[in-house]
Amino acid sequence: MEIIKVNDYNEMSQKAFSFFKEQLKKNPASVLGLATGSTPLGLYGLLIKELKGRQDLSFKTVNLDEYIGLGKDDEQSYYNFMFKNLFSELSLPSANWHVPEGRGRNNLSRFIKLLQDIGQRDIQLLGIGANGHIGFVEPSHKFPEQEAMIINLTQQTIQDNSRFFEDDMTKVPTQAITMGVPQILNAKKIIILASGENKAEAVKKAIQGPVTPQCPASILQEHSNVTWIIDELAGSKL
Ligand code: PGA
Repeated sequence: MEIIKVNDYNEMSQKAFSFFKEQLKKNPASVLGLATGSTPLGLYGLLIKELKGRQDLSFKTVNLDEYIGLGKDDEQSYYNFMFKNLFSELSLPSANWHVPEGRGRNNLSRFIKLLQDIGQRDIQLLGIGANGHIGFVEPSHKFPEQEAMIINLTQQTIQDNSRFFEDDMTKVPTQAITMGVPQILNAKKIIILASGENKAEAVKKAIQGPVTPQCPASILQEHSNVTWIIDELAGSKL
């Protein structure tokens, strides 16, 4: 496990960007696993700066998760998040980027098929929840073994994410579709970003604690190519 400590959010984003830039230089047709949330926004801004206007983009992406019940047109869907914050600015063909569907029949089996079809990810980007979740694999008594699944969100995640739903917890969807642990670990390289004091406890448990489903990110200790990029506040308990 590689741990890169940086001063702040901007430096974290720059550092993450350097890995993605290098990967796309090495293989412009890379498969990238992407994430949503406040954490990757800086990285996406840098990718837009780098790639905007390029007509030759050929990489493919797949996102970790989506809220159940939200569709492409919902302001808070992760599809819309990715469109607004990255893909609307790039000339990447729409067939090249994917977000699991939060609505529709058989959305779980369609997501599993998509993951099989798109192939092994060269890089999987992750954030970490204040409760240690990765994707929407929430803390529980057992690591889920499915490639992908529909799960119930924990109260903490609902509370954390209510900031995107007018601070109204009742407006936050209660379920999500997410890549499971085996899929997340199947990526060739994992880059996990953490910024801010509210992540410090989860970061400490994930890196220095035992591997436990109570802190899903701790499973990354078992992957052979993980890079943590952690700012000063998120790393303050290490
Ligand atoms: P955040 O979420 O980037 O909005 O803090 C991270 C996560 O929950 O995985």
